[in-house]
Amino acid sequence: MLSKSIEAALNKQIRIEAESSQVYLAMAVWAEVKGLEGISNFMYDQSDEEREHMLKLVKFVNERGGHAHISELNAPNVEFNSFRKMFEKLLAHEIFVSESINELVHISLQEKDYATHNFLQWYVAEQIEEEAVARTILDKINMIGDDKGGLYLFDRDIQQLTVNSAAQDLNTGA
Ligand SMILES: [Fe+2]
Ligand SMILES: [Fe+2]
Repeated sequence: MLSKSIEAALNKQIRIEAESSQVYLAMAVWAEVKGLEGISNFMYDQSDEEREHMLKLVKFVNERGGHAHISELNAPNVEFNSFRKMFEKLLAHEIFVSESINELVHISLQEKDYATHNFLQWYVAEQIEEEAVARTILDKINMIGDDKGGLYLFDRDIQQLTVNSAAQDLNTGA
């Protein structure tokens, strides 16, 4: 059985994951309109993954005798100025989510809720991977700079990154 404070903290995370899905959906749309199909597909996949993170939490809360709360969401940014700015936002957002997960882990230990603590370890591992992917992308974008040809190649290569990350998900049973 979940305590009221753990339930509230998990419900807050449900909202954060749902908002993350919206943030990445907005990025996917922005990239698609700019004609960069690879980047756009990558962001659509990210958006789907965040929805899965959200659903996993929803199921956990309900299974443990709580009631998952489906709330209103903040509207995401829809304009990003440049791809570098967009991916900087992606990394900053993942760091924000990692901090939120860490806080949840902290609360679960304080409350001696070891089932929730165990459940959250999947998110801890996922955040390490997502931050790493975001940093790799930013490194590449910084190398490209303003080179249009570089951006064209990157748009093609990022599809490979999507494949790798999907393969990792299969390995970890996500
Ligand atoms: Fe997530
Ligand atoms: Fe994420």
